[in-house]
Amino acid sequence: MPETAAEPIIRVSGLTTRFGPQVIHQDLDLQIARGEVMGVVGGSGSGKSVLMRAIIGLIRPASGRIEVLGRDTARLSDGERQALRARWGVLFQDGALFSSLTVAQNIAVPLREHSALPRRVIADLVAMKIAMAGLPPDAANKLPAELSGGMRKRAGLARALALDPEILFLDEPTAGLDPIGAARFDELIGALKRTLDLTVVMVTHDLDSLYAICDRVSVLIDKRVKVGTIDELMREPDTWIQEYFRGPRGRAAEQAAARSGRPESRAPESRGTESERNGEGDGRSDGDSR
Ligand SMILES: Nc1ncnc2c1ncn2[C@@H]1O[C@H](COP(=O)(O)OP(=O)(O)OP(=O)(O)O)[C@@H](O)[C@H]1O
Ligand SMILES: [Mg+2]
Repeated sequence: MPETAAEPIIRVSGLTTRFGPQVIHQDLDLQIARGEVMGVVGGSGSGKSVLMRAIIGLIRPASGRIEVLGRDTARLSDGERQALRARWGVLFQDGALFSSLTVAQNIAVPLREHSALPRRVIADLVAMKIAMAGLPPDAANKLPAELSGGMRKRAGLARALALDPEILFLDEPTAGLDPIGAARFDELIGALKRTLDLTVVMVTHDLDSLYAICDRVSVLIDKRVKVGTIDELMREPDTWIQEYFRGPRGRAAEQAAARSGRPESRAPESRGTESERNGEGDGRSDGDSR
């Protein structure tokens, strides 16, 4: 990986996060290189979403240091924080679209917040992002409730891309999608990454996504992360990692990736069922229910 050659675009050092007495991360270190796709996996409740929210400054760490794009996120003025936030896009686990706004209006929100562009230009940019996310043009005037789950994910992605971000944070982007929709979404992320030179941080339960588009994977275990390529992680003795990658689903995803040669063109029918991919029993529907 380019990590040693290039300055990491995200550098987390000694991160501890807690909610009251509950410690979520303890002394966690993580570096993500510019241009890489980093998967983040771990059991339900292991702290994947909290890690993402800490990196983007929505959760204040109890201790530790988080640098994004060379800036220490704890030492920013409001203006600097606003400027930094414009350099990344986020697709939250629940989609987090404004339910009373159309897709186009949702995508325009960050453009209005972070730019003084005239209305016409914003409209053009919104149309471009809608196309980029693979939505039909007529999705623009629909409300989130009028979209399918897959289209809502794409609308969230279009909004995350609104400001031409350098980093894309995705929390469970393929959860709730059927296998074909999930594979298409992976292809889209892979293509966007290549054409826009994005760094992608992707929380996922989806083993197929890991094989398809991730350069490295961070596994949340015991309040820290183990980081490596899938091959490197498979050599870790940790029981959770072994079960995750070498269990039946892990092997199926591995075989599917090997069969396809080119990871992103892998046949969608190779993916597991919905409940398999999402890690059963975590009780989350990932409905875009707002
Ligand atoms: N705002 C909050 N207040 C209190 N506790 C929280 C808050 N957010 C998360 N937690 C707790 O932190 C832990 C980690 O949550 P997190 O959402 O990061 O899990 P996760 O790994 O993303 O799980 P999943 O795979 O189910 O999405 C959980 O025990 C959760 O209950
Ligand atoms: Mg989560």
